[in-house]
Amino acid sequence: MVSAHLTIDPFFTVGPINPRLFGSFVEHLGRCVYDGLYEPGHPTADAEGFRGDVIELVKELGVSTIRYPGGNFVSGFRWEDSVGPRESRPRRLDLAWHSTETNEVGLHEFASWLDKVGSELMLAVNLGTRGTLEAIDLLEYTNLASGSTLSDQRVANGRTDAFGVSMWCLGNEMDGPWQLGHRSADDYGKLASQTAKGMRQLDPSIELVVCGSSSAHMPTFGEWERVVLSHTYEDVDYISCHAYYEEKNGDLGSFLASAVDMDHFIESVVASIDHVKAVKGSDKTINISFDEWNVWYIDRYQNVDKIEGLDNWPVAPRLLEDAYSVADAVVFGNLLISLLKHADRVTSASLAQLVNVIAPIMTEPGGPAWRQTTFFPFAVTSRLAKGSTLETKLTSDTYSTEVYGEVPLVDAVATHDETTGRTSVFLVNRSQTEEATVTIDMTALDGVSVLSVQTLADDDFSAKNTLDDQNRVGLSDNASVVTSGSNVTVTVPPVSWTALELG
Ligand code: AHR
Repeated sequence: MVSAHLTIDPFFTVGPINPRLFGSFVEHLGRCVYDGLYEPGHPTADAEGFRGDVIELVKELGVSTIRYPGGNFVSGFRWEDSVGPRESRPRRLDLAWHSTETNEVGLHEFASWLDKVGSELMLAVNLGTRGTLEAIDLLEYTNLASGSTLSDQRVANGRTDAFGVSMWCLGNEMDGPWQLGHRSADDYGKLASQTAKGMRQLDPSIELVVCGSSSAHMPTFGEWERVVLSHTYEDVDYISCHAYYEEKNGDLGSFLASAVDMDHFIESVVASIDHVKAVKGSDKTINISFDEWNVWYIDRYQNVDKIEGLDNWPVAPRLLEDAYSVADAVVFGNLLISLLKHADRVTSASLAQLVNVIAPIMTEPGGPAWRQTTFFPFAVTSRLAKGSTLETKLTSDTYSTEVYGEVPLVDAVATHDETTGRTSVFLVNRSQTEEATVTIDMTALDGVSVLSVQTLADDDFSAKNTLDDQNRVGLSDNASVVTSGSNVTVTVPPVSWTALELG
């Protein structure tokens, strides 16, 4: 039996939890938009062609801000193609995913869908194959009330009020050689600084995200952040991090410890930010927008799904449609724990992605929409993690991993909402063989009792929800909780994710 001990005290906080931590990402990629959230012929589709069943699931997931329209897609995107009368919108080749973009869904349609699901729009501009002027043009189109050619064009296109977009990404993964328009940190830093200054000249209220590294394992990691921030420190509000994890070579032990890598990634980027801050003698603090994170079986895309051929540019092909297992969901829940632990510096994050493409929600054309295993940790965490992250003291038995060395078998985080008095604890058991008994010392939370305990686990760690078996995996009430004085003890199965609600 694995044993762990967690002490929580609402007086010691890491920092407030920004609701933007529970953001997501919709890219024009595969069946995320077309045959995903948009399917005009579907029995649940509304007058605009948006699937009602998907809207309900997105609401249940509890997604705050949604990054759009890419991703790698954005580096070849002309935003003007996606507005105006649909019948005159061009069909374009999307070089990033070797597909055809019909532009049937564009900025106006997506903003309307966001109103239906109750999420905020976060836009990325193309700094790969376009530049400062096109970014300023888009900002004029979205944020200026009226009185200029572009803002009046928006009004003529049916949207009287400005979109009022606050969050803007200055390109996507510009450090990656796969990116259209990839450039050096020096070149990108200068372009991002110039674009940020221009955009702020138009609308000083916007919040800007400069591209950090596509992964902590890029050869330029660390130096990229230093150089890019040395050009942009006073111009931007966030630097991005992206990270995807997958089980490699059957090494489940290391995969289950993926959050160790995410913790390290975040702490390294914070160090890079604060180094530039010190060198510049700035009193401004830059935070992290972790605007792509998930489990993703990238090898499958590269070796099986990848589309090629001069005359082969399908519309909405099945791409990156990973089916997630229980183990994947446990890692995923642990990544959320890592983001929450760093709530003082990670103030925005986007789960990549939302529908069909490495997504918590899957759909079939003309058929059902269902929750993947990863849906559950996200929905519960976004609902329960309110207020502030607490500074906790966690002690746990450990295990040895091939990739990360000796790591704790149990990882956990606690949050506390002063306004409701509610406290939540999220934890994972990474052991593949043993149950874990986790004792939570709640001495500082006078008179608090356990309201609910939900666990995601299965005897078969590889169990998934699929079209044929949509509800194979779900949450179950964990009845093992024992309260003794001010200690609560919960027992959790091997390879599991658990949320406790205390109030
Ligand atoms: O989310 C899938 C892809 O992963 C995005 O388009 C890109 O930004 C990243 O490499």
